[in-house]
Amino acid sequence: MNTRLTRLLHIEHPIIMAPMFLVSNVNMAKAAAENGIACCIPALNYRNEQEFEHALVELNKMGKCYGINLIVNRSNIRLRKQLQLCVEYKVPFIITSLGKPEEVIRLCKPIGIKVFCDVSDMKYARKVAGYNPDGLIAVTNQAGGHLGSLSPGEFIPALVSLFPDLIIISAGGVGDHVGLMEKIHLGADGVSVGSIFIASVESPVSEEYKKACIQYGAKDIVCTTKLSGLPCTVINTPYVQKIGTRQNWFQSLINRNKRFKKWFKMLTYMRGMKVLRKAAFDATYQNVWCAGISIEHVHSIRPVKEIIKQLIA
Ligand SMILES: Cc1cc2nc3c(=O)[nH]c(=O)nc-3n(C[C@H](O)[C@H](O)[C@H](O)COP(=O)(O)O)c2cc1C
Repeated sequence: MNTRLTRLLHIEHPIIMAPMFLVSNVNMAKAAAENGIACCIPALNYRNEQEFEHALVELNKMGKCYGINLIVNRSNIRLRKQLQLCVEYKVPFIITSLGKPEEVIRLCKPIGIKVFCDVSDMKYARKVAGYNPDGLIAVTNQAGGHLGSLSPGEFIPALVSLFPDLIIISAGGVGDHVGLMEKIHLGADGVSVGSIFIASVESPVSEEYKKACIQYGAKDIVCTTKLSGLPCTVINTPYVQKIGTRQNWFQSLINRNKRFKKWFKMLTYMRGMKVLRKAAFDATYQNVWCAGISIEHVHSIRPVKEIIKQLIA
């Protein structure tokens, strides 16, 4: 399939393997590149800049397209160094999430690094489009992780008509070829697909997490604000049912307090990420597994190559 996205990134299929905290790694990126799509890895998946730089060296050795995801709000205290390394290693593309991507676009576009920005509603899309990125990723209400507020049917056509010069990528809910074509027919230049790759052979997470993606389906996905303060999709395990998905009255109170809310948000975020990390790699009963409704399409643990086949078949 030939779209503006495939032409810009020189990939065969209009698919980005979406950045997934704790999940995306170099092996998945290699498998993606070998099978005609491009993987994007969150810089935060690396504990320090040495590890991140080592990954960039490995990724550049592929000689194929890949991307790095940068969180551009204040919670990411390592942003400056991560951005510096992306520029130094001239990564093919960057996906920005949250916050203000102005600086990333200003530094990267002139040297040929493509920049796509995650947007979760029209107001934020208008703001971000003003910085002139290469494209927008419409994070829809079907997405895994931090989901948006609009359905693909509302979001994609609105973005396409408002920003005809920007590449528009749809994120969320794609698990097979039908899902992919649905988004293309809505006007998207491509899709960003995450959840169905969690249970891939190349993914580094525990067997329990992968098996949960097989055993649970779309009806078992719930939204919690307990992890980062923002709505985030997780599998409704007995542990999630036990702890609930909403902040309690005291937490909500601090969240609204002008003096404390910044620190409280930071603390909530750090605690949430710790819980996710433990659940993704260790055997624990505290199972908080992030995934989206597209795990409905996951029936076994398979190599990335097979999962891509399911998308393009
Ligand atoms: C486990 C998991 C972790 C995620 N981590 C990130 C992340 O670190 N940065 C980001 O921009 N998006 C993240 N996302 C969102 C994805 O990039 C993408 O928008 C989403 O997976 C698309 O929906 P889908 O899961 O239905 O394919 C994550 C999603 C999942 C499922």
